[in-house]
Amino acid sequence: MRTHHCNELRPAHIGQPVTLIGWVNSVRDQGGVIFIDLRDREGVTQCVFRAENSPEAATLSHTLRAEDVITVSGPVEERLKTAEVDTKNENLATGEIEVVAHELVIVNKAEVLPFQLDKELSNEDMRLHYRYLDLRRPRMASNLRHRHEITQAARTYLSNDGFIEVETPILSKSTPEGARDFLVPSRINPGKFYALPQAPQQYKQMLMVAGVEKYFQVARCFRDEDLRADRQPEFTQIDVEASFVDQDDIIGLIEGMLSSMFEASRGVKVPTPFERITWHDAMDKYGSDKPERRIDMEMVDLTEELKDCEFRVFSGTVASGGIIKAINAKGFAGASVGQIEKLTKTAQEAGAKGLAYIQARDTDRSTWRSPFVKRMTDEEVEALRAKLSIEPGDLILFAADKWEPACDVLGRIRLEVAGMQNLYEGKEDELDFLWVTEFPLLAYDEDEGRWNAVHHPFTRPLPEDEEKLKNGDLKGLRAQAYDVVLNGTELGGGSIRIHEADLQSAMFTALGIGKEEAQAEFGHILDAFKFGAPPHGGIALGLDRLVMLACREGSIREVIAFPKNNKGLELMTSSPASVDFKQLRELRIKSTVEESAKV
Ligand code: AMO
Ligand code: AMP
Repeated sequence: MRTHHCNELRPAHIGQPVTLIGWVNSVRDQGGVIFIDLRDREGVTQCVFRAENSPEAATLSHTLRAEDVITVSGPVEERLKTAEVDTKNENLATGEIEVVAHELVIVNKAEVLPFQLDKELSNEDMRLHYRYLDLRRPRMASNLRHRHEITQAARTYLSNDGFIEVETPILSKSTPEGARDFLVPSRINPGKFYALPQAPQQYKQMLMVAGVEKYFQVARCFRDEDLRADRQPEFTQIDVEASFVDQDDIIGLIEGMLSSMFEASRGVKVPTPFERITWHDAMDKYGSDKPERRIDMEMVDLTEELKDCEFRVFSGTVASGGIIKAINAKGFAGASVGQIEKLTKTAQEAGAKGLAYIQARDTDRSTWRSPFVKRMTDEEVEALRAKLSIEPGDLILFAADKWEPACDVLGRIRLEVAGMQNLYEGKEDELDFLWVTEFPLLAYDEDEGRWNAVHHPFTRPLPEDEEKLKNGDLKGLRAQAYDVVLNGTELGGGSIRIHEADLQSAMFTALGIGKEEAQAEFGHILDAFKFGAPPHGGIALGLDRLVMLACREGSIREVIAFPKNNKGLELMTSSPASVDFKQLRELRIKSTVEESAKV
C-alpha cells in the first residue's frame, strides 16, 4: 500500500507515482488550491490538490483538517521555481519536490485537537492527559527514538563484552535501598505482600553467587518517594554486576558504555577516562556529592583567616569546632534585596542559621554592603580579598557551621546563584562527566541515634577500614563506592560488594540489625555467601536521567512515554484508581480511608 515514507522523496523520484499515508500536519488554501504537509514518523512531504489533476481529490481536500489520517497517491513533481517565485524549501529534506494528488482517501477524521501540536504547551497535566497527541510532536517523537538508540547501544556494548541480560522478579521482596516500597498483596497468601523492587540489588548479587559472572538488565525499579524533575516512582536502570572485578574494572567498563551511549544519541565522542574526585573533595570544593563543574565558583575555606573575627557568627562557629566557607559570585554585587532574601531562605531551609554576605560595590571596603563587614579588621578584609580574588562588583556569600552542613548549604547556594546569574546559558552542549569515589560507608542519623548505610548494606568498606567495621569502630569508614555524575546530575552509582558472610554480618550489626532479624530478612544472602561466593561489584545507571541529559531536557518526564505527574498520577488512564470492593475482599484488604476521602 504505502510506497514511501514522508521523508524519502527527492528530485530523483520526479515523475514516479507514489502513495503516502500519514497525518495532515498543516493545511494551506492558496486561492482555492489546497497544499498540505503530510507527516509520518520520518518527516513531512508537501502534497498539492488541483482540480485539473483530480476534481474529486481537490473537492475532498477542502474538508481536510490538521491530524486527519489520509492516503495521497499521485506523481512526484518538482516544486515551482521561476524568476518570480521559488517554492522550494531548502530546510526540508523533501523541500524540492511535491506530490500532485490524483487520489485522496480520508482514512480517519480528526476532531479539533485540545491543543495545537506545533506550539509549546505549559499545562503539563493537559499534555499528559492527551499523551498520545503530545507524543506526536517532533521533539517528543525524537526523544522516544533517542531513548531506544541509547538503550540499544548499552545492550550492544555490554553484550559484546560478554554480559548477558537476565530478568529478575518484579513481584519481589522489600529491599533496603532507602526509599518506601510499593506493596502488592498476595491473594493466595492472605496477609502477605510482595514488594516491587527498588532495584534488583540482591538478585543480581545472587546471580554472581550462581556463577553468571557478567550480568546486566534494563531493569524497571519502583520507589515510593517524593517526586522531582529527575525522579519518578517507576524508572529504569541499566543494571550491571560482574564477578572478579575491582573498582577500576567497573569504572572502565561504564566509561566505555557511556561513551557508546552518547555516541549513539548525540553523535559525539565522549573523552575517557573521566576525572575522579573523592567524596570529601567534592563536598569541600563544590558542596555536593554530584558536583556541577560547568560553572566555576569553587568554595574557599576561611576558617583560619576569620577564626578571631569580632563577628560572633564566625568566631563562635570556629570556637565550637566548625568552619567558615565562602563563594565569590563574580559580578553579582547588584543582587536585589529579594534575591538575597531568597538565597537566605534556601540556606535556612537547608538547616543554616543564616547567610552572611558582602556586596563589594567598589575596591574600598567602605563601599562594601554587609551586615558584618564593619566588625572585621583590615587584615581580615585583605585576607578575604586575596583568597576570594574580590574585585569591584562581586558578591561574597558565607556559610559558618560544622564542615558537612556548611559545605552542603553553600553548595546549594552556589547552584542557586548560578541560576540567578544565568551561568548555565550556552553550556547546554558541554558534557562534564565525573566519578565521585570513596563515599562514606555509614552516616549517623542524629534523630534516630543510629548508623545508616550511605549506599546500601552490601557495599564493601575500603580494605584499610574492614577491620574497623568488624570491631564496631564505625566513625569515618569509607566505602568502595562510586557515583558517575554528568553536569551535576547523579547518573549512576555502584560499589564493590561484601562477599563474605562474616563481614556482611558485621555490617548488619553496625546498622543495628540483630542476628535474628538479619537471618529472617537477609538469610539468603548470608547463606549464599557461605557456599563459595565470588568477589563481585557493579553499578546501576539511571536510564531516564541519562536520556534526559542526552536530549537536553530538563525533566525525565520528557523522555518517558507515559510518566506520572508530580502527584504520582498517570493522567491518561487515571491511575492510581479505586478498585472494586470484590477485588479488595479477595485480597483480604480493608481500606481505612473514609468513603468521602476516596477520589
Ligand atoms: P541507586 O539507588 O543509586 O543505586 O540508583 C541508581 C541510579 O538510578 C537512578 N534513580 C532514579 N531515576 C529516576 N527516578 C528515581 N526515583 C530514581 N532513583 C534512582 C539514579 C541513580 O544514580 N542497586 C544500586 C546500584 C548498585 O549498587 O549496583 C542502586 O539502585 O540515576
Ligand atoms: P546576625 O548577627 O544574626 O544578625 O547575622 C548577621 C548575618 O550573618 C546575617 O546575614 C545572617 O544571615 C548571617 N548568619 C547567621 N548565622 C550564619 C551562619 N551560621 N553562617 C553564615 N551566615 C550566618
